[in-house]
Amino acid sequence: MELKDAIRLRRSGARITAEAPDDVQLAQYLALAAHSPDHAALRPWRLVTLRGADRERLGAALVAGFGDEPGSDSARRTAGKATRAPLLLGIVAAIQDHPKVPEWEQVAAVVAMVTTLELVLFDAGWTAMWRSGPGTEMAPVKQLMGVGPSEKILGWLYIGATDPDGRPGPEQDPDLADRITALA
Ligand SMILES: Cc1cc2nc3c(=O)[nH]c(=O)nc-3n(C[C@H](O)[C@H](O)[C@H](O)COP(=O)(O)O)c2cc1C
Repeated sequence: MELKDAIRLRRSGARITAEAPDDVQLAQYLALAAHSPDHAALRPWRLVTLRGADRERLGAALVAGFGDEPGSDSARRTAGKATRAPLLLGIVAAIQDHPKVPEWEQVAAVVAMVTTLELVLFDAGWTAMWRSGPGTEMAPVKQLMGVGPSEKILGWLYIGATDPDGRPGPEQDPDLADRITALA
């Protein structure tokens, strides 16, 4: 697919079916995405795969974090957030002490990498959707994800095959005429 077509046609999809890229494919996609802009090439991120029953462990950590009554409807809804795709890729910003690269630039590098990864996944025929929410800050979730003191969970990329009935249509090019100006 031509780059400009991939950029125009890529859409996040909430409706994702049971198939997902395997670890070998994922490593190939990541090798491409890791070419994204990254001040001092710190690669200030790590990714955590959750497949199968590991997603249920995340669901249980979310239930504990939200304080849902075990067995309640709200606990079932909360736990269900973690099984909406066959593969959840935890995005962890691993911030390093660096004399020239402040934290915000490192977070920007993570976002650049993940955005490229979404495009690479789309080009390879998969659907991805970046989701975050209050769970990223919850102690049981951080513990499950093995998040250290200098790390921050930026969310999870929900990855799988596109449900043909739930494929979102292409977006119109937005009107951005007022977003580029020269100096006054
Ligand atoms: C850092 C980040 C976190 C996000 N978290 C959520 C989320 O928790 N729930 C949600 O519905 N969309 C979330 N989104 C938005 C979707 O991933 C997606 O970008 C949005 O629905 C627009 O769809 P599109 O990618 O097809 O343009 C998030 C996006 C980013 C960049």
